[in-house]
Amino acid sequence: ENMAGHLPTGLKGLDNALCGGIPFGVVTELVGPAGIGKTQFCLKLSLLASLPSSYGGLDGSVIYIDTESKFSSRRMIEIGFNSFPEVFHTDGMAQEMAGRILVLRPTSLSEFTDSLQKIKVSLFQHGVKLLIIDSMAALLSGEGVQGPQRQHSLGWHISFIKSVAEFSRIPVVVTNQVRSQSRDETSHYSFQEQSRGESPEDAAKLDSHLVAALGIHWAHAVCIRLIFESRSGQRFIKLAKSPLSPPLAFPFNITSSGILL
Ligand code: GTP
Repeated sequence: ENMAGHLPTGLKGLDNALCGGIPFGVVTELVGPAGIGKTQFCLKLSLLASLPSSYGGLDGSVIYIDTESKFSSRRMIEIGFNSFPEVFHTDGMAQEMAGRILVLRPTSLSEFTDSLQKIKVSLFQHGVKLLIIDSMAALLSGEGVQGPQRQHSLGWHISFIKSVAEFSRIPVVVTNQVRSQSRDETSHYSFQEQSRGESPEDAAKLDSHLVAALGIHWAHAVCIRLIFESRSGQRFIKLAKSPLSPPLAFPFNITSSGILL
């Protein structure tokens, strides 16, 4: 049993900075441009949460709200075979692990509302140890809502997500995409180019960027924010908002084993 109340990510430096991993009971946000690896990270977390505790997992189920049809059980099982060969080469284990991930695919805000209401019950009945929402902002882009109206339409969802984390005491991980200026993965985002300074300024710029997208209510609901970014071809996870740690950046790569440091 994980007494500390953290889901280790397997990225040592990040886990140390987070005092053990993604904390239970709060909302952790993963932010970054398209293709940077947020979904890959979520697949890895899903595996770690569902893995038997003898292998360092949480031995639980996972609810994965997949709003952009990015979840791939094939890819998840591939990561599993490469990262945890002893577990996955056990007969029937790949199927069992895959069966522990409940994937919901709402395609509109109202379906998202239904999904959240539905999971309220299953959270307690099925031993859910991780809730992932990948991604949240995507639900709004199709709705044609802008500005204050857009933020208002998410108010209930934001409160609900925060309270799910608090009451169920599981880690809740939410991804959000920020636009990068070009499709080139080595480019910086617009908010980074305006500032060469270290993280407080960057974080403030990102904050205002996200506040514009999802509203101040959302910004306050997030306890930990991990920024995914790429510089000169190297990907980084930056701990941008944390009650525990100063801003730190950790390099990572995506391989057949998933996310690696
Ligand atoms: P959006 O959801 O579009 O915002 O992007 P994201 O940040 O979720 O990106 P995602 O996690 O989908 O990462 C995409 C990247 O993961 C690709 O650019 C690939 O580098 C890598 N990737 C995806 N699938 C595989 C795979 O099967 N094998 C390997 N080695 N890398 C993969």
